[in-house]
Amino acid sequence: MDLVDPFGRTIRDLRISVTDRCNFRCTYCMPAEGMQWLPRSEVLSFEEIERLARIFVERYEVDGIRLTGGEPTVRAHLPVLVEKLSHLRVPATSSSAFAGRKPDLALTTNGATFRLVAHDLRSAGLDRVNISLDTLHADRFLQMTRRDELTRVLDGIEAAKEAGFSPVKINAVVERGSNDDEVVDLARFGRERGVEVRFIEFMPLDAEGGWDRSKVVSQDEIVAAIDAVFPLEPVPARGAAPADRWRYLDGGGLVGVVPTVTKAFCGDCDRVRLTADGQFRTCLFETREFDLRALLRDGASDDDLAAEIERAVGTKWAGHQINQVNFIRPKRSMSQIGG
Ligand code: GTP
Ligand code: 5AD
Ligand code: SF4
Repeated sequence: MDLVDPFGRTIRDLRISVTDRCNFRCTYCMPAEGMQWLPRSEVLSFEEIERLARIFVERYEVDGIRLTGGEPTVRAHLPVLVEKLSHLRVPATSSSAFAGRKPDLALTTNGATFRLVAHDLRSAGLDRVNISLDTLHADRFLQMTRRDELTRVLDGIEAAKEAGFSPVKINAVVERGSNDDEVVDLARFGRERGVEVRFIEFMPLDAEGGWDRSKVVSQDEIVAAIDAVFPLEPVPARGAAPADRWRYLDGGGLVGVVPTVTKAFCGDCDRVRLTADGQFRTCLFETREFDLRALLRDGASDDDLAAEIERAVGTKWAGHQINQVNFIRPKRSMSQIGG
C-alpha cells in the first residue's frame, strides 16, 4: 500500500543515516571540535535498519534507499548492510519502475576514503554514489572541511567511476564569500570528468548557527554564472528529487541545483528519514521525531512499527518555514539528521 501524507504526497524514498560520526568537520555542518558522538548502543544495528527498511520497501513500496551519515563509510562493515538491503524486493504489484526488483540503493559520501570501499560496496549491490566537493583549491578545501583531503576526495571520485557506479554525482554547497567564485570551475570539472555537479544552496542546518541569508547564493545566480560560460537549457519534469537540472547545449552533460532556500521544492517531496539512533523524521527541517528504536527494542511487531510510521507520516507538514519569521531551526544539525 502507498504511504501518503496529509498533502497527498506518496512516500517513495527513505534516507537512512548509518552513523553521526564523520572524518571531516565541514564548517557548514559541524563545529571544529566538541561534537558529542552517539554511544554505540544507541545506534541502530544493521539488523534493526534492515527490519525497518523491509517494512518501507515491502509494505509501502518505497523504491529508493539512500545511506547517509555523518560520513557513512566510517561505519564498519558498511557493505554488509548494503548486501542485506539488496535482498529487499519492491512488491511485484507496485506501479514503481522497480516493481519486483531491489530498490535503488544510493550513498552520499565525502569521498575521502571511498577508494577503500568502492569495490566492496559495488559488489554488495550499491547502485549510485554522490560525493561532496565544494572547491578545487587545496587551501580552501582545508578551510571548508577542516581536513587536508582534496587529493583523496578527487581520487575517491575516480574510484567511484572505476568501480562502475553510474551516475556519479558531485555535491557542492555554495557559500557566499567562501567558494561562490568557483561555480564555473566546478561546472567545468563536472563536464571534463563526466560527472553531474549539483550546487546546493547553503541551508540553516550548520552546527554553529553561522547560517545567514546573506551567505546563500541563489539558484538563479548559480545558473546565470554557468550559463554565461557554458549555455544551458532546463531539463523539464524535476519529479520529487531535490535538484533542478539543466543540460549543456553543447552536449557537455547535466548540471543541477538544490534550491532549498530560494525555490523550495517541498510540494513534490517524497522523502522520509531515519537517523542513526533510530528516530524517524518526515522532513529535514522538522523539529519532531518519532522513536522507532524504542519500539524496536521493546519487542514491537511489524504492525506496531508500521502504525507508528503511518502516524508520523500523518504529521508531515506542507514544507519548511525557512523564509518565514516563525522558522525554528531543528535542534540537531546536518550530520546528526543525515543530510
Ligand atoms: P539523487 O537521488 O541523486 O538526486 O540524490 P539527492 O540529491 O536526493 O541526495 P544527496 O544526499 O546527494 O543530497 C543532495 C543535497 O540535497 C544535500 O544537501 C541534501 O541535504 C539535500 N536534500 C536531500 N533531501 C532533501 C530534502 O528533502 N529537502 C531539502 N531541503 N534538501 C534535501
Ligand atoms: N547546507 C547545505 N548542504 C549541506 N550539506 C551539509 N550541510 C549542509 C548545509 N548546511 C550537504 C553536504 C552533503 C549533503 C549530505 O549535505 O555537503 O553533500
Ligand atoms: Fe521535504 Fe522537508 Fe525537504 Fe521540504 S524541506 S523537501 S518537506 S524534507
